[in-house]
Amino acid sequence: MPRNNFLARWTIVIALVLASLQTPQAQTPAPQLGKNSVKEVVAAMTTEEKVKLLVGMGLNLEIPGLPTPAAEDKIPEKVVGAAGRTHPIPRLGIPTLTLSDGPAGVRIDPVRNGDTSKTYYATGFPIATLLASSWDTSVANRIGLAMGREVRDYGIDILLAPAMNIHRNPLGGRNFEYYSEDPLIAGKMAAAFVKGVQANGVGTSIKHFAANNQEFNRTQSNSLVSERALREIYLRGFEIAVKESQPWTVMSSYNLINGTYTSQSKDLLTTLLRDEWGFKGFVMSDWFGGNNAVEQLRAGNDVLMPGVVFQTEAITKALTDGTLSKEQLDKNVERVLNIVLESPAFKNNKYSNQPDLRGNAQIAREAATEGMVLLKNDNNVLPLARRAKIALLGNQSYDLIAGGTGSGNVNKKYVVSLDQGLASTGFTFDDSLKNSYVRFIRDENAKRPKVPFFVLPPPIPEMSVDTARLQQLAAETDIAILTLGRNSGEFADRKVEDDFTLTSAEIVLIDNISQAFHSKAKKVVVVLNVGGPIEVASWRRKVDAVLLAWQPGQEGGNAIADVLSGKVNPSGKLATTFPVTYNDVPSAKTFPGKELAGVTPLISNPLGGKPAEATYEEGIYVGYRYSNTFGVKPAYDFGYGLSYTTFEYGPANLSSTKFQDKVKVSVVVKNNGKVAGKEVVQLYVSAPGVKLKKPSSELRAFAKTRLLKPGEAQTISFTLTPRDLASFDSSSSSWIAEAGTYAVNIASSPSNIKSSTKLELEKDLIVERSRKLLEPTQALRDLEPK
Ligand code: BGC
Repeated sequence: MPRNNFLARWTIVIALVLASLQTPQAQTPAPQLGKNSVKEVVAAMTTEEKVKLLVGMGLNLEIPGLPTPAAEDKIPEKVVGAAGRTHPIPRLGIPTLTLSDGPAGVRIDPVRNGDTSKTYYATGFPIATLLASSWDTSVANRIGLAMGREVRDYGIDILLAPAMNIHRNPLGGRNFEYYSEDPLIAGKMAAAFVKGVQANGVGTSIKHFAANNQEFNRTQSNSLVSERALREIYLRGFEIAVKESQPWTVMSSYNLINGTYTSQSKDLLTTLLRDEWGFKGFVMSDWFGGNNAVEQLRAGNDVLMPGVVFQTEAITKALTDGTLSKEQLDKNVERVLNIVLESPAFKNNKYSNQPDLRGNAQIAREAATEGMVLLKNDNNVLPLARRAKIALLGNQSYDLIAGGTGSGNVNKKYVVSLDQGLASTGFTFDDSLKNSYVRFIRDENAKRPKVPFFVLPPPIPEMSVDTARLQQLAAETDIAILTLGRNSGEFADRKVEDDFTLTSAEIVLIDNISQAFHSKAKKVVVVLNVGGPIEVASWRRKVDAVLLAWQPGQEGGNAIADVLSGKVNPSGKLATTFPVTYNDVPSAKTFPGKELAGVTPLISNPLGGKPAEATYEEGIYVGYRYSNTFGVKPAYDFGYGLSYTTFEYGPANLSSTKFQDKVKVSVVVKNNGKVAGKEVVQLYVSAPGVKLKKPSSELRAFAKTRLLKPGEAQTISFTLTPRDLASFDSSSSSWIAEAGTYAVNIASSPSNIKSSTKLELEKDLIVERSRKLLEPTQALRDLEPK
């Protein structure tokens, strides 16, 4: 072989060997999120990396019985006390996402590593039930904007809020975190809140999706709900929030719906949420929710929180044995990466760790006044006379409950008590009474049993005040104010006795105060510092005024004083019914459900609980839909609330009395009283309800006027769409508006109609077609009117 040939051949061989050594992989740097497309990044990820992204970093807390993070995940948190984190994959430019609770404020630890020289408090905003009672979406939006700024300023990516389950029953332990018994209010409030938060370039997680209406065995409870009740009541709010505000994420709930864990339901998380409603973000599980990680990914529950090692193992095994496809895994990963791309962590945003707590406190105070509801005000006892001397009674007057407990709690710097709020508004008190209360509360608190992390200790009993002292107070002061309080939170529902109803100590106190003060022609005001309805019908006649202050956040005392003093005219209305007795609640018999003997879950949830089920027998007749249709008069109706002024409504004006594509409804509302005020205008529709039975009327639109001066008027306009006339027909899986005569009622509660106009729909309308989803596995017979 000629030498040249020989050399040439070897040169080629060497070149080939070198080329094979320098494979593109070795040469090309790994794709980077943001620089390369999401698809390219996914293609470059190893299976292990993909699984890591989908299974959170574990709970960074040592709680006996709860799984701890994998050893390599025990790394310091960027935000101490955040609820969870996703895994970073630095090789591909994927950062950790930090997730923190809402919904009443950012829940993080205020002190890090015992160093008190710098603190990390967050604003304690009013609870969601109060925000909803404002019936003003701009209030929810302002709170969202402010809370979102704190999320951003603390370097957090996603706020685990808003919470928007329906108040199915007044005993729901987390109702305070939720808005309303009505899905329109819940949906509109949530959408406004999400838009506010997300305007700061941070994300939200609307939760808990769905039909999670109790705490009893919450991780293993099966909600048996008809398709119609699901669509019209329990899913409707989420539908509105998704369509109107595109939250970055959705949190699936703990419970099962009709036999399937929500986090494992493809019907819910893919077909409905994504295919029908157009949700673009990712779904995360509630903490330790569900019992099958592989099914969760398949259903479209992309991220498992807080993330447990056995989930990683199960997913890895399913990928190896082919029971989980690579395509499915890639879909889950892509959805997460699309949101990571939006996150402050990815953008490497600087954060101050110094939110404007002072400015946000002012926002919290104003919002709190907007959602307080004046339930009773005989002879205009409120607003209080200037500089009145007050006998301030009740533990909660000195120990205000700013918000509920559990993950809905906020580590706020302070809570303004009612005595502080009233004092700075210029009122005076009996100091010895205050001293007695302060001492009593301190001593009782010291006696309280130590309870595990997150759990609500039993309430301290109401301090008794003897009749002689009350008589003396009645002689020496101008008026009595008694504050009654209730608290609740995650893990437990409220109970009827001594919680929904008054305790015997409270009853005695009301009786004695009422006698002592009325005998001296002095008045009695009750302030309700509660997270949900309590029984009022048996005692309200003994007092002159009742202000429902809810749990008004850290500025609560100031906000209540603003309303009591008349600085702010109350304009809140109930977004949840106050029944006369607990038995008047349509779900009284089936709430919170029953435990199922002999059923063992596949993997028992580390949060405990037993297999249970709750049958939603009342169907769509929740709250006012029940009381109004079945003639069960509540103590205070949904939509109800007084003002220090009065309003006059003009006739409703419809753009047409024949319904075609839509109808515009307008009405003039005038303040015909003596002080400035805002009025909530409510629009209810009564449908023919021949083929499909309907509630006697349903809220289809609402708005609040601006602050109207005496004599001032404002035109409020609404647009009714076909969906507003429609109901969900399970037999055809579609939203149908039945032909016939509808009534469009402008009202200040379902039963207090100001003007009613007829609207004709000539032909049956199929407004939207869906498909069979979330079907009950057993026949359910929903309550129906005759
Ligand atoms: C709650 C969620 C919360 C999560 C993280 C769960 O126990 O149900 O609402 O976001 O914990 O704290």
